[in-house]
Amino acid sequence: MSDSDHRNSLTIIDNRTGKSYELPIENGTIRSMDLRKIKESEDDFGLLGYDPAFLNTCSCKSTITFIDGDKGILRYRGYPIEQLAEKSSFLETAYLLIKGELPDKERLAVWTYNIRHHTMTHANLTKFMDGFRYDAHPMGILVGTVGALSTFYPDAKNVGQEESRKLQVRRLIGKMPTLAAMSFRHSLGFPYVLPDNDLSYAGNFLSMMFRMTERSYKPNPVLEHALDVLFILHADHEQNCSTNAVRSVSSSMVDPYSAIAAGCAALYGPLHGGANEAVIHMLKQIGSVDKIPEFIRSVKSGEGRLMGFGHRVYKNYDPRARIIKKIAFDVFEETGRNPLLDIAIELERIALEDDYFIGRKLYPNVDFYSGLIYQAMGFPTEMFPVLFAIGRVPGWLAQWIEHVKDPEQKIARPRQIYLGEECRHYVPLDDRPRRGDDEQKFGICRL
Ligand code: CMC
Repeated sequence: MSDSDHRNSLTIIDNRTGKSYELPIENGTIRSMDLRKIKESEDDFGLLGYDPAFLNTCSCKSTITFIDGDKGILRYRGYPIEQLAEKSSFLETAYLLIKGELPDKERLAVWTYNIRHHTMTHANLTKFMDGFRYDAHPMGILVGTVGALSTFYPDAKNVGQEESRKLQVRRLIGKMPTLAAMSFRHSLGFPYVLPDNDLSYAGNFLSMMFRMTERSYKPNPVLEHALDVLFILHADHEQNCSTNAVRSVSSSMVDPYSAIAAGCAALYGPLHGGANEAVIHMLKQIGSVDKIPEFIRSVKSGEGRLMGFGHRVYKNYDPRARIIKKIAFDVFEETGRNPLLDIAIELERIALEDDYFIGRKLYPNVDFYSGLIYQAMGFPTEMFPVLFAIGRVPGWLAQWIEHVKDPEQKIARPRQIYLGEECRHYVPLDDRPRRGDDEQKFGICRL
């Protein structure tokens, strides 16, 4: 081994045996499988890594999204998020994420045409949608209906075929806003609005959400643009909880609708896509600017979290939050100022000066201001995670394609540390201790 090789390796001494092992370092990582060579005896299984919540484990190699959490950098395929938010459109960004390069004019036109012509859903899906209770959470409806798409497109199971993958990509990006708007209108008891392919992606979504009896719906261009930018900002975020769910589920080679439904389910949680909804509840609960110090005290004493703050990866201002804060002011000029904005701005100011948040590197994340914009646009809070999901679909799809094409990937299957009972004899029902009995008396036998 040459000197330079030596610099790219890790030497581990196992103090149980005194043996020394040299593990190669590649891309700043060691392969966890190399740890298995480290054994106490011949029949030992070998050393495993223990990493609940994947705090320090890479599950894949990826060329899609780069994040430097300490510096607050986010790039899709190398392009800074600030430039994409300013200059790109959501559909162009979706192309970039999925295909790896920005499209030329012709490619973008074909891509846009293809997605616009997959916005309709099968009529039976309407009946399926109607089966949900009137007050069903739209995110729950989305999880169910996205999963149900797999039954309409059985060809989607051919995940190894490029042509099939391309078709499912168009269908999923095209149909997500339709399903999302249907879930909203179902909760109001309003008839569903058919897609209008003459409108932009965001404009068509606004039409399907809010169109009533107008002959033709003209979306407000400021709101349409703001929504498009919000979709761009949410389009991918490397290996977050929902993307990990999509990758993990699709590692079984299931169809993408089932895998994306799993992503939606993960996104539903309040620590992930549900956080923007939680921010609005929190701001309402605080109620007025003078109540903020009391609220901050309760967070610091562990009575809850400051929702929309903190991130597993960003230990600096989330770059998306900075862009969203600016958009918020553009939107409020159209819609009127959201009264919760003053509470949010003051809450941010106080938190950013407080040692508790400074010490833990807790800054506003993407969800801190996005809910305020959505609310001002007329979206009910239950729709917030649904909006996040529409934006995230291209990222999930890009990650899905990368995953199924990666020759190093196999079905995802973590190990565990078993700390439960050792082997014990089955006890017949009549012989089992009842509540309050002394277990010893029954002589439960352990092997
Ligand atoms: N408010 C108060 N304390 C917090 C918060 C918060 N929002 N976030 C983290 N902490 C504290 C936490 O209590 C812990 O303190 P200590 O060391 O004293 O125990 C420390 O900071 C580290 O927290 P953690 O839970 O180990 O951090 P994590 O990386 O596991 O969690 C997080 C990341 C996003 C789940 C968390 O910051 C959080 O719950 N934030 C609020 C929910 C939120 O806004 N989620 C949206 C995330 S961005 C959109 C997305 O990707 O979905």
